[in-house]
Order: sequence, then structure tokens, then C-alpha cells
Amino acid sequence: MLVHAIPTNATYEFAEDVRDGLTRPGQKELPSKYFYDDVGSALFEVISRLPEYGLTRADERLLRRHADEIVSRLAGPVAVAELGSGSGKKTRWLLQALAQRQRTFYYPVELSRSALAMCERELSDIDSISILGFEREYLDGLLEVAACRERGQHLLVLFLGSTIGNFDRVAGVRFLAEIRRILEPGDSLLLGTDLEKSSAQLLQAYDDELGVTAAFNLNLLARINRELGGNFTLGQFAHAPRVNHEARSVEMHLRSKCRQTVSIAEAELDVEFLEDETIWTESSHKYLAEEIFKIGLEAGFRCEAQWIDQQWPFAENLLIAE
Ligand code: TRP
Repeated sequence: MLVHAIPTNATYEFAEDVRDGLTRPGQKELPSKYFYDDVGSALFEVISRLPEYGLTRADERLLRRHADEIVSRLAGPVAVAELGSGSGKKTRWLLQALAQRQRTFYYPVELSRSALAMCERELSDIDSISILGFEREYLDGLLEVAACRERGQHLLVLFLGSTIGNFDRVAGVRFLAEIRRILEPGDSLLLGTDLEKSSAQLLQAYDDELGVTAAFNLNLLARINRELGGNFTLGQFAHAPRVNHEARSVEMHLRSKCRQTVSIAEAELDVEFLEDETIWTESSHKYLAEEIFKIGLEAGFRCEAQWIDQQWPFAENLLIAE
């Protein structure tokens, strides 16, 4: 697979983001995009197989079961862009269905080069498919994909796994509107959304007994140690998810078990933590099925169809750009 990569000063940007997040007055935070280095991506693969975390399997089931119907609702020749492809495993069914009717270009957009490589290993055996990866932020990558589309070709954008839930609700609509601005009328967006469920189920899903989710969250600190010369003692922080009923989300935090100071050489930073002070690392918002129609409309899409999993409340939404 060809990969378009841009040389960036990744370490410098990481150090800046860590510095900004940890020196913020009030709630300290770290951006969740740094979860997915090689170790984090591998841990997430394990999370997606845990019995407590049904989200990824629900997404896969829906795509597998309804691939033909989804594809039948798309007009004309279609190229596929996927924002945050991960391993590419769940995309197989859609690509196979599309490749049966036309030669298909598949453009995964991913920050993780190892995820792009995995994606190619997973999908390159499908006949009539060409894969071109973009190692980019979502919207930058989508802009480039849109720039190389051929006349008369429609784009299908995949935004699966409920990554939309990692934005707050206002920012989520804004993000969909930005996608819409890059698209043309008649292009489509297949959007995965995790639906509301009980607090008990949510806490289990984000705090599994084996501790894989805890390791995934703590890996953010381990990564700062590895790449930025930090001296976090991982045993002095605990994975601490909480349900936010008002925001209808699960918030992921890392809680300092004691009062301590941590140094991060590359960020030229000493940070103090009080006992029980937390670093907020990600929020995962949950939706009502009917809410998606409204959000889609606000962003400039109409909802063509919606499929809901019976085992784990999750919806796949096919939105068409108006
Ligand atoms: N974005 C995923 C989600 O919201 C990722 C995730 C799963 C996650 N478990 C986590 C993020 C634990 C942080 C901590 O479901």
C-alpha cells in the first residue's frame, strides 16, 4: 500500500500538547489522540474482544449483516474514505460488497502508521480494490481524498466505532458539518453511534475486570515517559472512569493516588498533583437513536437509513449530503 505521510515534528507537538493540558487551571487533561501508539493500538484491539465491551462487535455485526443493503443505497461509482480505520477488520464486508459491483478505491485516514499497515494486511486480499493510506488528521486527510476524486464519482465517508462520541455534543455536530463542507451533494457518511445504556453496563465496559482498559488509559502516561522523558510512576495513578449523567457520557480519568510531583524533561515541566486529583483523558458520549436524525440535519445531511444492533445498543446511520 502507498502511504502519504508528512514529516512533522511529532515529538515537539506531543510535548506542547502535554504541557498545555497539564498546566491548565482547574481540570488537568491530556488529548486522547495520543492513546494510539503501537502499545495503545494493540491494547485497544484487546479491549474490542472483551466480553464487557460490546461496542466494536456490535459495529462489526451490523456492517457484516447489512453490507449489501448499505451498498445498494449508494448511487453511482463510489470511493471510500475511512476516518480512523484502526485495523480495518470491520470494513471488509462493505468493501467486498462494493467491489462486487465496481473497482473500488479505499482511502484509510489514520494517525497511526502501524494501524495503516495492519489495515493493508487485513484487506489487500479483496479483489478489485486499491488501498491508499493517508497518515493525517481526519479532516486534512479527507480534504486530500476529496481532491483526488474523479468526475462523477461519489464519496462514502466511514466514521465508525462511535468515535463521534469522543467529541462533546456541540463539537460533534460541528465536526459533522466540517465533513459535510468537504463533500458534494449525494455523497454519503456512514456514522457509527453507541446508544445509551445503564450506568452499570457502561462502567463495566470502561473498567473491565482484567484491567486491559486501565492499562490502555495508563499507557498515556507510559508513553509520556518513553517519548518525552517523563518520570510518572504508573502505580501511583489509577484508571478512574465515571458516568456523567448530565452530559450522557462516560468520562475517563487518571487519578493520582497521593500528593506528588512529576517531571517531564522534553516538555520542560514539573507538575504537581494533589491526592485524588485527576487528569481527564477522554469522554465517550452516548446517543438516543432518534437524536442522530436531528444532529445529521443540523450538519447538512438527511438520514437515509438506520440499523440498530439487538444485542448491544449501537446504531449505524447512513447520512446523505443534501
Ligand atoms: N473511543 C473509544 C470509546 O469511547 C475508546 C475507548 C474504549 C477508551 N475504552 C476506553 C478510551 C478507555 C479511554 C479509556 O469507547
